[in-house]
Amino acid sequence: MSYTILDSIKHSDQKSLIEEMALDVLIGFSQSEKRLSSKYFYDDKGSEIFSKIMESEDYYPTRSEFEIFENNQEKISSFFHDQDDINIIELGAGDGKKTKVLLRYFLEQNRSFDYHPIDISEQAIIDLTASLNKELPKLNVHGVVGQYFPSLNWINNNKHGRNFIFFLGSNIGNFDLPQARVFLRTLWSCLNDGDLVLIGFDLKKDINKLLWAYNDRGGLTAEFNINLLRRLNRDLGANFKVENFQHFGTYNPLKGSMESYLISLDDQTVEIEALKKSFNFKAFEPIHLEYSYKYLPKDIQGLANDTGFKIMDNLFDSNKYFVDSVWSVVKN
Ligand code: AVI
Repeated sequence: MSYTILDSIKHSDQKSLIEEMALDVLIGFSQSEKRLSSKYFYDDKGSEIFSKIMESEDYYPTRSEFEIFENNQEKISSFFHDQDDINIIELGAGDGKKTKVLLRYFLEQNRSFDYHPIDISEQAIIDLTASLNKELPKLNVHGVVGQYFPSLNWINNNKHGRNFIFFLGSNIGNFDLPQARVFLRTLWSCLNDGDLVLIGFDLKKDINKLLWAYNDRGGLTAEFNINLLRRLNRDLGANFKVENFQHFGTYNPLKGSMESYLISLDDQTVEIEALKKSFNFKAFEPIHLEYSYKYLPKDIQGLANDTGFKIMDNLFDSNKYFVDSVWSVVKN
């Protein structure tokens, strides 16, 4: 099994990660409108719950993107039809379930490419590599454990050929618009003229469909959000009574995003050992956890124009719930 762990990750020990989280919590809870960053959702338990959310009936984005890949394998392959030596690079690969549909097709077509999943979790890269070795033994896979941009730079310094970046699952939606612009422009600066990017965007749609997806009937999203408090209890020595908080997922029509909150059900005080500090929560006071921005095709066009990309194609599912937008890097 071959993969690379970037030095920046090797040297960032558990203690410094916890200190960073403690600082983020201090900043988030010291504001008049309390907030926690959604980046802390994904501990082992949170990742396990998120996998279940993706399988659930109410959470349509994963199924929609899967359908897009099944119906557009040939088209996606045609974007790099005249080239060999392709690096398919997936940002935040997770279990790679959707990507496998495409990788299998590219192999069947005898396309010459390597697959480089990037993930911050070493275990995610180990598990994905093992399952790919088993399911697609002919695939050349070399994962990178690290943050997205240092990992991309590592691949650029160590590999020749065209890059084709996959950023799936509407992960872009968890950034607000200024953050999305900064992210895309940084991505642009790591790439070469003509490199390709495929980005999954969740589209604006019937608000009830959105509300069900983020308030699923199995209670998984509620559990996913509450798990963040459990994580603070475990990693920062907090004493949240999780039953005193209620999940609330709502659509903000002014921002065009789903938002997740935890609502304090009573006046309560929570101590956080790592901060040597306690925080008061008033009855019905919200903690903001997550934005999931929804897009219109014209917003996607605007983002591409603003950040130095040209849209090659927009691939929709049959319901038009989701789009995978394929962009090429324009540098000249
Ligand atoms: C990871 N991300 C794209 C998911 C989303 O839809 O915003 C996270 C999620 N939150 C609640 N359900 C799913």
